[in-house]
Amino acid sequence: MKIAALIVAAGRGSRLNADIPKQYIPLNGPCALHRSINIFLSVSRVKAVACVIHPADLSRYNEVVEQLASPALHAPVIGGDTRGASVFAGLNALSAFSPDAVLIHDAARPFMPMVVINGVIDALKDTAGACAALPVVDALWADENGKAGHSVARDGLWRAQTPQGFHFDAILAAYETSDGSAADDVAVARAAGIEVSFVPGSEAGYKITTADDLARALRDTA
Ligand code: CTP
Ligand code: MG
Repeated sequence: MKIAALIVAAGRGSRLNADIPKQYIPLNGPCALHRSINIFLSVSRVKAVACVIHPADLSRYNEVVEQLASPALHAPVIGGDTRGASVFAGLNALSAFSPDAVLIHDAARPFMPMVVINGVIDALKDTAGACAALPVVDALWADENGKAGHSVARDGLWRAQTPQGFHFDAILAAYETSDGSAADDVAVARAAGIEVSFVPGSEAGYKITTADDLARALRDTA
């Protein structure tokens, strides 16, 4: 299987609200985007890596990839206003490479272990879609007027992470018919009837979303 990785990095990080988008903030050295690219370039079965970026970040991006020169790293793709639009732009650009499968990953998850990525690749032998995920372990409660209402069974519930991998032609076709409202790539795939299996994710693969997450990432790299 010819495998490509698509790293989406065109977001603005509004919840973190730092001076620059979170994926470019140095983490005691390389930023999250640099670390994410590096991991996928290190997976030998990944033959192409493409990043989706915001046009305002082009010079930042060029600085990040300066030390990452690799024939597998493709030119950056300009993203859109939503994550889905950014993924779709990236898939369209990657179609020139004719991959058999694509691993879609958030640049804001810089510490995803290689074993998880390899697990997603392995699962794509058997299903058209595979998602890194962790079972929900906390008790879940539905809010009723700001107080605990009724509990919600957590059995069979998963927290989706990335990478989310798919057979390329199937996910491209799914995005072509998607209305843009999907929460993630699995949602786009499921809406198009693509079967998606769960692959063990990792707590280490958390997404930097809030200031607390950034503080954790700075501790993890100290
Ligand atoms: N992303 C993207 N294009 C967008 C929105 C998000 O490529 N229009 C990317 C982000 O750069 C990030 C990943 O999708 O790597 C997950 O999104 P999220 O964590 O929500 O990042 P942001 O959208 O940047 O953050 P926020 O929602 O707080 O603004
Ligand atoms: Mg967002």
